[in-house]
Amino acid sequence: MSTASPSPSTDRTLETDPLHLVDVDHVRFYVGNAKQAAFFYAHTFGFEVTQIADLTSGSRDTARYLLTQGNIRFILETPLSPDHPINDELTKYGDGVKDVAFNVMDAEKAYERAVSNGGESAYEPRTTSDGSGSVTMAGVKAYGRAVHTFVSRTGDYALPDVKKGGRFSPEFHPMDFALNDYNRQNPCGLKYVDHCVGNVEEGKMNHWVEWYENVLEFSMFKHFDDADISTEHSALMSKVMASGNHLIKMPINEPADGLKKSQILEYLEWHSMTPGIQHLALRTDDELASVAELRRRGVDFLSLPDTYYEAVWDRVNTTLKAHGHEPVREDHERIKDLGILVDADDEGYLLQLFTKPLQDRPTLFFEIISRRGSQSFGKGNFKALFEALELEQERRGNL
Ligand code: FE2
Repeated sequence: MSTASPSPSTDRTLETDPLHLVDVDHVRFYVGNAKQAAFFYAHTFGFEVTQIADLTSGSRDTARYLLTQGNIRFILETPLSPDHPINDELTKYGDGVKDVAFNVMDAEKAYERAVSNGGESAYEPRTTSDGSGSVTMAGVKAYGRAVHTFVSRTGDYALPDVKKGGRFSPEFHPMDFALNDYNRQNPCGLKYVDHCVGNVEEGKMNHWVEWYENVLEFSMFKHFDDADISTEHSALMSKVMASGNHLIKMPINEPADGLKKSQILEYLEWHSMTPGIQHLALRTDDELASVAELRRRGVDFLSLPDTYYEAVWDRVNTTLKAHGHEPVREDHERIKDLGILVDADDEGYLLQLFTKPLQDRPTLFFEIISRRGSQSFGKGNFKALFEALELEQERRGNL
C-alpha cells in the first residue's frame, strides 16, 4: 500500500488557509549595537553577515544586519536615534529576540485572520517594493514583548531566492564581511530553527496556549506529556504548541514553585517581569561536529556534572531498546568529552546542548539540537539541567 502519492489537500491548504506557515522567514533581535553583535554571532556561531540596511543604504532610523546560516535568517536591529522606541525595549530587556517572523502566502490576509481570531495588532501591513518585487509584513503581539510578523514576498524577494543569497528586501544592500569566507570554510552546520521557547508569568501558560490555538490556529504538539515535567525537582511548567504543518514548535514555560528560585523566574526578573523568548533551538544534522566547532570558536555552553554520564547511557539505551530502536550510534566518549546531553523516547533519541546566556543579563540563550527520531524536547535531562542551572544562578547571586 502506497502512502507516498502527493495529497491534493496540501495545495488547497496552501492556497486557502491564510495562516498556513510556509517557513520561518526570519528572527529579529533588538540589540544595543548591531555592528558588534553581528561580529559576535558570526565569530562564535558561524553566521555569514551578508546584507545591511543602515545609513549607507538610506535607513536613518535603525541599522539592520542580515545574518544567515543554512535556512536560518537573523535580523539584528539597533536604533540610531535617542527617541526611537526600540531604546525603551533595550533599557527594559537588554538585547534579545523581538520577533519570530513567519513566511506566508499573503501577509495581509494572515494578519487579518489573526486579528479577527482575537489577536492584537503590533503593526498594520506595510509593503516595500521596487522594480524587482515586493515584501509585505504585518505583525501581531504575542506574549510580553514578543511579536509574530507575517511576511509575504514577490519577485526577486521570494523566499527561495532569498535562501539562495538574493536580497532580503528592497531596503537591504549586499555587504562584504571579513569572516564570511572563513565561516564557509569552517561550517558550524546549523540548519534551521527547530523550536522557539517563550517564558510567561506564573499562571499564564494556559492563557498563551489558548492564544496560539485561537489566534494563530496552532495545536498542542502531540508528543507533549504534562505529567513528565512535574517532578519534585522541576521548577517549570511547559506546553508545546505547533503550527498546523509542524513547521515550528513554540513551547511555552511558566515558573513553578520549587525549593529554589526557578530559572524562568530569574529570566522574568531580569526582563522587567515581561514575557519573552527564552531560547531558540538551532537544528544540526551532526551534533558532535557542530558542538566541537562551536566550542573551538569560544561558545560558552552550560556544563553538567560528570555524574550525568554515569546514568545517561543506561537510561537512554534502555528506553531505545524497549521501543525497538538501535542504541545511540554516536561515540559515547566523545559525547561526554563535548558535554552533550542525550535523551530518548518511544520514537528515538535526540542530542542537545544549551549555551549560557548570550548577553550579560541571564535571559536569551541558544540550544544546539539534533534528532534521531525523537520529536520531544529533552525532558529526561530536566533534572540534571536544573542542577546545572542552579549552580549558574548561584554564581550570579540569583538563587
Ligand atoms: Fe529547547
